[in-house]
Amino acid sequence: MPIQVAQEDRVALVTVDRPERLNALNTQSLQELLATFERLASDSSVRAIIVTGAGDRAFIAGADIAEMKDKSPSEALAFARLGQAVCSAIEAAPQPVIAAINGYALGGGCEIALACDIRLASETAVLGQPEVALGVPPGWGGTQRLPRVIGPGLARELIYTGRRVRAEEALRIGLVNAVYPPAELLERARALAAEIARNAPLAVRLSKEAIRRGLDVDLAAGLALEAQAFALAFSTADQREGMSAFLEKRSPEFRGA
Ligand code: CAA
Repeated sequence: MPIQVAQEDRVALVTVDRPERLNALNTQSLQELLATFERLASDSSVRAIIVTGAGDRAFIAGADIAEMKDKSPSEALAFARLGQAVCSAIEAAPQPVIAAINGYALGGGCEIALACDIRLASETAVLGQPEVALGVPPGWGGTQRLPRVIGPGLARELIYTGRRVRAEEALRIGLVNAVYPPAELLERARALAAEIARNAPLAVRLSKEAIRRGLDVDLAAGLALEAQAFALAFSTADQREGMSAFLEKRSPEFRGA
């Protein structure tokens, strides 16, 4: 199975496991990834998700070029839509998703990372959108999410040149949040996921949704979304628990309700 899922405490670890292809994604692995995120979305025991790649060389080296090469335009359209559906499922997952980028994150691999809420990289990570060197534009959201993450000027440069970016540059341009030695990456991702998992899950979920939907609308509409999310939280037991615990000087016990 190209996609492995392990759960420890309240954190799911999703590993793309095709190391002999540097974890490149073919149709089967995309379908499995989509099914995995659809399942995790309805699992309330999961409070945060980490995505990484098997082995020590690659996060995901992109779409599987061998499978893609002979596609007709209509097959390519279906393939782009499938990859985009995976990225949208990650972006819309109720739990925050952390990309632990342990090596190459190129093309579709960079696009999967861009769909995650938080990107952490190992010192050996290499990111980029090299599609134009293969005769195609990015197809799983790179033209849309890269400009939203690093700004349109730099995104244009990276997409038009296909230039690869090493971890330290990725950190400087805001493409990743932090860079760690390879041996520490997963441990740091788990610690961050555990920190998120300690908070009220519905409040985290409402925050994620307000950020995600707010990025696609103007400020006034975004603020309206935020006010609704804030009000909705006041119908939860966790809001009463969180505020009571603060006033009673104890740790809250959140139930996710
Ligand atoms: N698809 C299929 N196979 C791939 C692959 C990919 N994206 N990336 C690597 N592989 C395979 C290689 O063909 C090779 O297989 P063999 O052992 O059978 O020869 C194996 O993985 C190991 O790779 P390399 O020998 O090439 O390793 P390297 O260290 O010399 O180079 C690399 C590593 C720079 C990542 C190089 O493999 C590479 O450039 N890969 C392709 C990266 C790329 O262009 N990705 C974008 C794909 S297009 C896309 O993703 C479109 C989209 O927007 C959805």
